[in-house]
Amino acid sequence: MQILDGKALSQKITAHVAGEVKALKAEGITPGLAVMVVGDDPASHAYVGMKAKMCKNTGIYSIVHEMPDDISQEKILETIAMMNKNPNINGILVQLPLPSHIDEEAVLGAIDPTKDVDGFHPCNAGKLVLGMEGFAPCTPLGVMELLNEYNIDPKGLDACVVGASNIVGKPMMNLILNKFATVDICHIHTKDLKAHTSRADLLIVGVGKINLITEDMVKEGAIIIDIGINRNEEGKLVGDVDYANVSEKCSFITPVPGGVGPMTIAMLMQNTITAAKQRD
Ligand code: GUN
Repeated sequence: MQILDGKALSQKITAHVAGEVKALKAEGITPGLAVMVVGDDPASHAYVGMKAKMCKNTGIYSIVHEMPDDISQEKILETIAMMNKNPNINGILVQLPLPSHIDEEAVLGAIDPTKDVDGFHPCNAGKLVLGMEGFAPCTPLGVMELLNEYNIDPKGLDACVVGASNIVGKPMMNLILNKFATVDICHIHTKDLKAHTSRADLLIVGVGKINLITEDMVKEGAIIIDIGINRNEEGKLVGDVDYANVSEKCSFITPVPGGVGPMTIAMLMQNTITAAKQRD
């Protein structure tokens, strides 16, 4: 079994991004990322903090808009319109989830698609489905980078994606389908999860449920990608896969932490550079 080391690869990518930022700055371009976080969810603030810190480390200019939980939709849309117009901002990210009184679709749809470094705008989601150039969501994009780094080609593999969210599962399905994997996508209403997972050469799980995938659900020699981030009773970070037992049976596996997690932020930096290079 080999570990897919997202920590090491993310460091390699961010070092490369830092070099690109330096080159862009020499041409008079400072890449900029604006992040919006609404409410006081500690996890969201922790993620936003990590994103801002990585911007600093790579030389990307960043601004964080922190908004109270009871902010109006109009105010959010106004701020997005301002960021769309700001020539110093190349990437815009709205941290999810948003409070329930805010229309998430309207907010994500208001972001200029050329600044949509999270790839959540319907325009970029559509381009991904059609296999066109555009921004793809950072977490599934990070998985693709990890597979590529370890010379794992999805072509012809029987793949199973567990979790069908707009942020992770659906774009993940499209990215590996575009690389010609044969894809099953499972979700809460799937009748027999094990029937799908146990035939997968490539099993990708992003649900948020500790020990959802146990060793009996995994094919011998499979490649396992664990996108889940959970805290167990001891307060330790764990994924959705029973790592201790599944790692005995598979060929490759991502650890939690240190697998897909750090790749998400690295890909955000990379998407921001791409947006800065493509600006008008
Ligand atoms: N919430 C959970 N994951 C993400 C992500 O990748 N991007 C944003 N914007 N919000 C999230």
